[in-house]
Amino acid sequence: MTIAVYGASGHTGKLVVAELRRRGVAPVLIGRNADRLRAAAAETGLPDATVRVAGLDEAALADAFGDIEVVISAVAPFLEFGEPVVRAAIAAGTHYVDTSGEQGHVERLFDVYAEPARQAGVTVVPMVNDGGFLGDLVGSLAAARVEQPRQVTLAHRHTGGAVISRGSGRTAIANADVFASGGVVFTGGTWRTDVPARTTEITFPGVPQPVRVVKFALTEVLTIPRHVPADHIEAVAEAEVAALFAGLTPEFAESLPEFPEDDPGNPGRFLVLAEVTGPGGGARAYAEGTDTYRFTATAAADAAIRLATDGAAAGVLAPSQAFDPADVLDSFAARGIRWSVESMDHTTA
Ligand SMILES: NC(=O)c1ccc[n+]([C@@H]2O[C@H](COP(=O)([O-])OP(=O)(O)OC[C@H]3O[C@@H](n4cnc5c(N)ncnc54)[C@H](OP(=O)(O)O)[C@@H]3O)[C@@H](O)[C@H]2O)c1
Repeated sequence: MTIAVYGASGHTGKLVVAELRRRGVAPVLIGRNADRLRAAAAETGLPDATVRVAGLDEAALADAFGDIEVVISAVAPFLEFGEPVVRAAIAAGTHYVDTSGEQGHVERLFDVYAEPARQAGVTVVPMVNDGGFLGDLVGSLAAARVEQPRQVTLAHRHTGGAVISRGSGRTAIANADVFASGGVVFTGGTWRTDVPARTTEITFPGVPQPVRVVKFALTEVLTIPRHVPADHIEAVAEAEVAALFAGLTPEFAESLPEFPEDDPGNPGRFLVLAEVTGPGGGARAYAEGTDTYRFTATAAADAAIRLATDGAAAGVLAPSQAFDPADVLDSFAARGIRWSVESMDHTTA
């Protein structure tokens, strides 16, 4: 199995390399800087790993991907640097997975690369991380419990843990407009920025009181409409979290650590929730775990191994179109992911 990591010298990229090694796969490390790639190989216990230097030049990238079955991209920000990597993967006939959490990037992959990927026989699965990926999977599982899904509401909750990485900070800055606007809502058969979220408060599992929420730019709003026939799909976050993202400054982003370490005594916990309602009732599903970046690496490595082993349809796919949601979530149990799907006793649609 030949799997490559593009951006292998970054925080997430290194963790993906380490996770592939743990799974018995020796990845090829690709990026723009030979010294940083070699250092990443040594730090992840693979001093003899193959290292290939390729910047964002499409021909150089396609050449580097020539014998690779699946490439995992962990560049930052994807909005600025993500596109040449997917274009080169399609040109090289290499399947593609990325760790993006950016609506603009995910939207562009579906809009521009769905047909070229289909024609090339290449599978492209964006946003494989602790956020949008899990959101898409639990959204699909909750919707399967509802006879006529009308509305889907998505939300993430993070508590404890380390600060975000500098790469994530730079990503938030590159997408500042989108985070400030709250991003898109799917309604009336299309994605719109000028529509507010209908949900104003939400009760997270394990939290006794409802919390006030506002529209927030989660990526699964772009993928769930591709496999759930609901009229209205929106994402929200606690108002304070949305304000934090909207208020990030470039100076603060640059002050963040390049390689933040989660505190084992107070690990970062994430919970990803989907509530689906229809005329006859509703259901909610959620997944929760610890350590955003390590879990993202687990998910991205797992997705790449699944594509190399089992394949998936050609084209740009939502996670739930590429993989069986329950099977994927169950497979993460050993990595501390718990998930649940349950009926809700109230109806809002
Ligand atoms: N839940 C989520 O949404 C979630 C979770 C985890 C990660 N992510 C996303 O994953 C991405 C990676 O985050 P990170 O913290 O790992 O970032 P990072 O540490 O800054 O790593 C970025 C990587 O991209 C490479 N890169 C940057 N600019 C480049 C350029 N112009 N040409 C070629 N390569 C370039 C860097 O190479 P050098 O080493 O040579 O600089 C590095 O390998 C971010 O967009 C982050 O938001 C999202």
